[in-house]
Amino acid sequence: MTQSAAAPSTSSAAAHAAIAAAATTDFFIPEADVVRRAGRLGAEIRNVALGGDLPDAAIEAIHRLLLRHKVVFIRGQHHLDDAEQERFARRLGDLVPHPTIGALKGTASILELDASRGGGRADQWHTDVTFVDAHPKFSVLRGVVIPEFGGDTVFANTVSAYEDLPAPLRQLAGSLWAVHSNAYDYAVKSRATDADRKHFDEVFTGTVYETEHPVVQVHPETGEHALLLGNFVQRFVGLNKGDSQKLFDLFQSHITAPENTVRWGWQAGDVVIWDNRATQHYAVNDYGNQKRVVHRATVDGDVPKSIDGQRSILRKKVAK
Ligand SMILES: [Fe+2]
Repeated sequence: MTQSAAAPSTSSAAAHAAIAAAATTDFFIPEADVVRRAGRLGAEIRNVALGGDLPDAAIEAIHRLLLRHKVVFIRGQHHLDDAEQERFARRLGDLVPHPTIGALKGTASILELDASRGGGRADQWHTDVTFVDAHPKFSVLRGVVIPEFGGDTVFANTVSAYEDLPAPLRQLAGSLWAVHSNAYDYAVKSRATDADRKHFDEVFTGTVYETEHPVVQVHPETGEHALLLGNFVQRFVGLNKGDSQKLFDLFQSHITAPENTVRWGWQAGDVVIWDNRATQHYAVNDYGNQKRVVHRATVDGDVPKSIDGQRSILRKKVAK
């Protein structure tokens, strides 16, 4: 796909400069320990042991790197268990359980994604939990059992995707709102197994949510503008299903263009943290029946705001 040379909006250029300035001078994590993994997003942070007792300066440094690179990768965190993963994640904000699946017993927010069970393969492009209004801020994902091959996660930058749109498409995106729901047509959108469908019906959509989000969200911390779409979108407000699908495909194709992504090959003990307000992700489902288990701690977010200052609206929350 050809990327447009159109300049980003002024507010977002200023936000970029602010983030770059904040992230260049950092005494706790030397620049040599921050290794970029792709052109548009993603950096590996080396020589850090994550945990709940890290000094404030370390947490601030990780937070800044996260805002700057959108997703950060940290290898070798074998010392973490669920409790310590959550103690670390809590330093980034309040934890929140999944709205319909809940949290693993004894934890505040841990979501176990086990590929051998229904719903354990997140093989669609999405931003986490966008069917609720205040969707998560950060996800902290730990590799517990990783297959010998396959099972990478691909991340896409929804800020650069917006900024690289030609001006007329940026304008169109800025005028649109989308209806996100967890009750999407799972059979159509996914290579679902019977176990997946059963899990989806019983657990994932135990309560049906519908939320209207602006297609362009203003990032509450950086001021950047980001496309807010992904697989929970059902349609655009005021458009029919057919027109919605065509426009959705158009905008998604800019988000998921290979040049706009970074791909992470997991090892057990890896921790990957992403800014859920500036990214989408996709777990590549190419590992067959090999075991793959990852544990996610989730940091609560704010209700998104459009460019003209309107907040997302929860339209429906109905228990089945
Ligand atoms: Fe996800």
